[in-house]
Formats: sequence, structure tokens, C-alpha cells
Amino acid sequence: MNIKMDYDAMFSGIIGEDYAMLKQLSPLSYEMSSLVGATVAEYAKSASNVVELGGGTGITTLSILSQHGSAQILSIDNEPTMQKQAQESLAAWVNAGRLTFSSDDALTALKKLPDASVDSVASAYTLHNFTQDYRKQVLAEVFRVLVPGGCFINGDRYALDDIDVHTRTTQQEVSRYFSVLIAAGKLELLEHWIVHLFSDESENHIMRETQALTQLADAGFSAIQLSHRYEVNALVSAYKPQ
Ligand SMILES: C[S@@+](CC[C@H](N)C(=O)[O-])C[C@H]1O[C@@H](n2cnc3c(N)ncnc32)[C@H](O)[C@@H]1O
Repeated sequence: MNIKMDYDAMFSGIIGEDYAMLKQLSPLSYEMSSLVGATVAEYAKSASNVVELGGGTGITTLSILSQHGSAQILSIDNEPTMQKQAQESLAAWVNAGRLTFSSDDALTALKKLPDASVDSVASAYTLHNFTQDYRKQVLAEVFRVLVPGGCFINGDRYALDDIDVHTRTTQQEVSRYFSVLIAAGKLELLEHWIVHLFSDESENHIMRETQALTQLADAGFSAIQLSHRYEVNALVSAYKPQ
């Protein structure tokens, strides 16, 4: 079975519909979207052309739109259930000409964009879903489409370099899933979160801090910074040299 298809279908069928539970399961993911929006607004003051990878239901998209008064976003997501929610809830920005959508996967969508045509590329909780090889190709495309001086901003799961600490932290996270979802009677969702976590933690997906920052440097980025670490989550920013 195609693993990517399998968990994309899961996002669509289960997590897509129950996404509000995420607030309880992973409170930081909301904060991370807000941080991504604030960072786009801070570092791309005059820049208004933003590509978002994995817009999902629009949480991060809204954060960028609301914190950057002139940002124009192309939001990419290849899961229709998730993107449909964003299209509905963010219709006002679509009508105002500030938001468009692509239903292609991130790599395909980026490949359609010209060189040096995007001021910033932003994302939250999407790149950790990619396989190592696909992520490498996506980062090369992100670098290509950015203007010189353009920034890449990603709030995501960045696994701790210390594997023991990472395992303990992930175990605490699993305990939280059980507490919240058993109390809510959402056993099917609990099953899917655990299944998804196995994918996140697998060797061909896991985005370990030092390796991830090295991958950005290898792609050509400079001024690479990891900040706002909380448990397995962190904000990463990197620039295409002028
Ligand atoms: C965990 S959600 C994050 C959504 C939003 N950024 C947030 O923080 O709430 C990850 C999103 O990435 C999308 N995604 C996963 N792989 C993708 C790919 N290869 N291309 C485009 N979108 C992808 C999924 O469909 C999902 O909507």
C-alpha cells in the first residue's frame, strides 16, 4: 500500500473533519501558526507575495492574512477536505483578491512557479509529513522560487537531537492524546493519531533538528535559525542570500 496515500486519506477522512480537537491535543500548534504569521509579517514587511505549503483548514493562512495587512497568499494543499474548509472560512480574503488556492501537491505546485518570484514561503506542520527525499526536493524548489533575500518560515515538528529526550517527550504527547480523546469518546480519532505518529516518527519522515538545519544549508539557505522550541515543536527561519 502507498503509505503517503494512506495518511493523506487519513487527514482527509478523519483528522480533516475532527481538526478542532487539535486545539486540545496539541495546543502549541495554534500558537505555532500564530508565530508563523507574526514572523512572515515581521521579516517580510514590504514583501507581500507568500506561498503557503499545506494550508490545511486555513489556521496558518488566517494567521498570516491577519498579521500581514497586504500579504497575498497562494495556499497549497493536496487534500480536498482540508482545503474546502479553508476556502469556505476564508472566502472574504478570496473575494478581496488576497488568497488563491492550489490543490496540487507541494512539489508539483512549486515546480509551476517561476524562479525568484516569491517573497516568502511559509508553512506549519506540513513538512514533517514529507519523506526525506520529497522534502529535499521541496526545499530545493522553495529556494529556487524565492527572490534573493526572501525567507522560508516553518513552524513544525523538529525532532530533538537527543533521541532519549525526544522519545520521553513523544511518550508524554501520546499520554495526552489518550487523556483528551478517551475523555471525548473519540476512539477512532485516537487510533488515527497514533497511526499517524508512527509515520511522523519513522526514519524516512522524521525531521531531526540538526539534520533539518543542515538540509536547509545544503539547499543554499543562510541565516538559518531555530527558535521557540517547545517539546518537539519549533520555528525555523532561513533566507535565500541576496
Ligand atoms: C497538519 S496539517 C497543517 C495545516 C495547517 N498549516 C495548520 O497548522 O493547522 C498538514 C497539511 O499538509 C497537507 N499536506 C501533506 N502533504 C502534502 C503535500 N505533499 N503537498 C501539499 N499539502 C500536503 C495535508 O493535506 C494537511 O492539510
